Amino acid sequence: MANQDDNLLKKIVAHAKEYGFVFPSSEIYDGLGAAYDYGQNGAELKNNIKSYWWKSMVQMNENIVGIDAAIFMHPTTWKASGHVDAFNDPLIDNKDSKKRYRADVLVEEYIAKVEAKINKEVSKAAKRFGDKFDKDQFIATNDRVVRYTEEINTINTRMKSAIETGNLNQLKELIEELGIADPVSGSKNWTDVRQFNLMFSTELGSLAEGANKIYLRPETAQGIFVNFLNVQKTGRMKLPFGIAQIGKAFRNEIIARQFIFRMREFEQMEMQFFVKPGEEMQWYEHWKEHRMKWHRTLGLGDENYRYHDHLNLAHYANAACDIEFNFPMGFKELEGIHSRTDFDLKAHEEYSGKKLQFFDHQENKSYVPYVVETSIGLDRLFLAVLTAAYKEETLEDGSERTVLKIPAALAPSKVAVLPLLQKDGLPEKGREILDKIKYDFACQYDEKDTIGKRYRRQDAVGTPYCITIDHQTLEDNTVTLRDRDTAKQERINVLDLKNRIEELVSLTGLLRQIG
Ligand code: GAP
Repeated sequence: MANQDDNLLKKIVAHAKEYGFVFPSSEIYDGLGAAYDYGQNGAELKNNIKSYWWKSMVQMNENIVGIDAAIFMHPTTWKASGHVDAFNDPLIDNKDSKKRYRADVLVEEYIAKVEAKINKEVSKAAKRFGDKFDKDQFIATNDRVVRYTEEINTINTRMKSAIETGNLNQLKELIEELGIADPVSGSKNWTDVRQFNLMFSTELGSLAEGANKIYLRPETAQGIFVNFLNVQKTGRMKLPFGIAQIGKAFRNEIIARQFIFRMREFEQMEMQFFVKPGEEMQWYEHWKEHRMKWHRTLGLGDENYRYHDHLNLAHYANAACDIEFNFPMGFKELEGIHSRTDFDLKAHEEYSGKKLQFFDHQENKSYVPYVVETSIGLDRLFLAVLTAAYKEETLEDGSERTVLKIPAALAPSKVAVLPLLQKDGLPEKGREILDKIKYDFACQYDEKDTIGKRYRRQDAVGTPYCITIDHQTLEDNTVTLRDRDTAKQERINVLDLKNRIEELVSLTGLLRQIG
């Protein structure tokens, strides 16, 4: 079941702010649209997600290496990649509300409404026919559903043709014919549709020296393509091999809504896998499967992921799909897996005049490798983690709590050290334990308020384990280890703490499951 829960998103946004995960950017000046700052807990969670990705890609694969390319790149990079000419969104303004929309999204939202009508017919019929219900047959034969399906197909064909041929008048005509109104004001008074490039530009050097327009990179991938030869030669890499990178990307998104789902400054974790031409489909299938396994290993719920295969392929791709996650807004793209052919390397060869090829000793010839790309938005995965982790619960003793059940290996702090009382030598024992384990785990120390309140605070930031020091600790050197998710406690000797926590929170456990 898709989430479609605006309330959940609002709660996550409020919780993320209250507990130091995500703040609106420059909030004291009323914030900046679609830009966010990660707070003390958010930064830790983000770093742990990066670590999970980097280790599983770079450390676990001897044929994948990681780089860190500059955000600024030679402007010709973006001409070659097609971003200067084709990285556009078709925009339309409503003359009455003065609001701006993506024309294709307005049409897609209309299509979603027709799809909802189909789903309604299907569930009504499923109820009516019970066990005998054959969904496929019903969809293929029911008059009303067939009509709706035809309507969707016609709209899709017209939209695709308008976008592919660049005939934006056709897109406006479609919006007018469908009677699409401004979702805010209900007005149908639209401007023409215009193309709007999503890249941010700035100037390199002073104006007097002759300003040179450069762009903030809209994807990290191009930093990998332009370094293909550097890495292949210096790393003596043989096909197939991959180059991975984590870094910021910038897009002047028009519809920047839904918290950190769609931002103007965000982070990507991308890997370009260079393969022999002809072998790309086999690697595409490999990465599709492997990336899904990587996601599922986090334990956010297998039912919360699905593939969305692209039917309309970009001009450079011969296969593409998204891994979608069940966000509070429903299933949406989390990661893209694209078979990009030799498009990018060939384009850079053409524009740079440099050969970007691999010499295959077995075949005794050089060729431009094909590329399979995996590209995930770090901020989107962060939101996915919060979505699955956020729970409001009533405990066995009747008390209520808001808890973030973040996978232990990703949690901002792994363990909190809590002396039961602020006296009798318990704080001193607590600090002694903290000093032993802080080299291995991100820890918190808290001795203020009742133990119940302190557990609640740790639950709210997702700390998976709490160590409580009580009078028995002073007698037999044991502490209680409380599990965030079950609220159950085990008594454990201080000497065994490190190994036990390691076993429970280490990233290694996750990495071993992926294989
Ligand atoms: N190199 C391929 C590429 O950039 P993409 O589908 O445009 O492909 C890849 O982006 C991923 O980056 C998406 O699946 C998404 O997770 C993330 N992403 C894209 N635009 C974003 C935005 N405005 N805010 C946050 N994440 C974004």
